[in-house]
Amino acid sequence: MVLRTQSMPKDANPNGDIFGGWVMCQMDIGGGLLAMEVARGRVVTVTVDKMAFVRPVQVGDTICVYGSVIRIGNSSMDIKLEVWAKDPIEVFETQRHLVTEAVFRYVAIDEERRSRRIPDNPQYPR
Ligand SMILES: CC(C)(COP(=O)(O)OP(=O)(O)OC[C@H]1O[C@@H](n2cnc3c(N)ncnc32)[C@H](O)[C@@H]1OP(=O)(O)O)[C@@H](O)C(=O)NCCC(=O)NCCS
Repeated sequence: MVLRTQSMPKDANPNGDIFGGWVMCQMDIGGGLLAMEVARGRVVTVTVDKMAFVRPVQVGDTICVYGSVIRIGNSSMDIKLEVWAKDPIEVFETQRHLVTEAVFRYVAIDEERRSRRIPDNPQYPR
């Protein structure tokens, strides 16, 4: 799990459903945290692959983002992100539902914002 939070009324449209852009933001924050650990430093998001929202998120839901590193290149890495939601009082293992999933690509950058090689790390082999 790379991020756990709760959707708030300010994140909803007038129908009471949570904006997809807010969900993507949580994915990018969680994925970015994992990417920074892998890259041991600063990263930027460069691409997001096609994503579909399969279930809505309601105000007050518990939102969990799961991330896994699926590819490490020279300076870039691909992180698969899944978003799961549930009513806060329900049991997570049985009552959660998948909201969306996507692969985010992050690039490690240096102080001048140039791409840099991701250092070798046995925890995240190439
Ligand atoms: C990401 C960025 C640093 C790449 O710069 P660049 O000059 O293309 O750098 P490089 O050519 O060295 O490519 C770096 C890596 O990014 C990958 N990459 C760059 N553009 C890409 C694209 N459009 N799609 C997929 N991968 C891409 C390259 O394949 C390369 O991967 P590798 O090193 O693992 O082989 C630059 O495009 C950038 O700063 N973009 C803005 C990022 C940003 O601000 N994100 C937040 C948006 S609000």
